[in-house]
Amino acid sequence: MLSVQGLKKSFGGIKAVDTSSLDVAGGGTVGVIGPNGAGKTTLFNLISGFDKPDNGAIIFDGENIAGKPSAEIARMGLIRTFQLSKALTRLTVVENMMLAPQVQYGERIWNVWLRPREVKQQEEANREKAISLLEFFGLLSKKDDYAGALSGGQKRLLEIARALMAEPKMLLLDEPFSGVNPTLTKKIVEYLKTLREEGMTFLVIEHDMHIIMQLSDFLYVLNKGKVIASGVPEEVRHNERVLDAYLG
Ligand SMILES: Nc1ncnc2c1ncn2[C@@H]1O[C@H](COP(=O)(O)OP(=O)(O)OP(=O)(O)O)[C@@H](O)[C@H]1O
Ligand SMILES: [Mg+2]
Repeated sequence: MLSVQGLKKSFGGIKAVDTSSLDVAGGGTVGVIGPNGAGKTTLFNLISGFDKPDNGAIIFDGENIAGKPSAEIARMGLIRTFQLSKALTRLTVVENMMLAPQVQYGERIWNVWLRPREVKQQEEANREKAISLLEFFGLLSKKDDYAGALSGGQKRLLEIARALMAEPKMLLLDEPFSGVNPTLTKKIVEYLKTLREEGMTFLVIEHDMHIIMQLSDFLYVLNKGKVIASGVPEEVRHNERVLDAYLG
């Protein structure tokens, strides 16, 4: 589904990403691990169009998306999560869901005038979708609370739920468990596994080796922008270069 080839991005003298190849098959979960500054977030920025590569190709669904604007990439079904911005914490949980990308059919004013019925129907369908996603993630009882009042872990869940409103083909999650307590972490892992069983494809960045090993079908280990190891979790666990990168 996704294939990264010869991807390069430097900041000044630092080669943040210098990745010869990285592939994600549809319907699986691929993990990206690596020490601080390894280039994981930069890699996600390049894939999702929030930053432009110096070089290389990013093939998603058969099309080279390298350098395309993020909105266009999102429309193709490749969505990444961000932490909720400040403004959105002043909206309720369900309002956040309704503001998710690609669901704002009522936004274009001429639509409201010319096709009020369609816009209304679309809004109702979106609300139903929002409610069922909130139910799936155990957030339904919070639907009218301000998003800002949620715990760190619940905010993470809301982020993922919002991303799913757009019915992506593939989700990029950057450290979805950071700041999340162990109980909720376990829950999120279960949700992600369930979604994967239903056919969702994930690329997930995570610091914690233990969690990512549980979650991933395949792992890439980055260090200084390069893939230093890859394989199924069991192989990677025993790889000396990985242990060196983490320990030293
Ligand atoms: N906008 C930027 N300007 C300058 N340098 C940057 C920029 N973004 C990232 N870098 C540098 O690129 C390298 C990779 O950073 P990146 O954030 O991608 O790493 P990471 O693997 O996500 O790290 P962490 O685990 O700490 O989140 C680092 O050396 C970082 O300082
Ligand atoms: Mg990062």
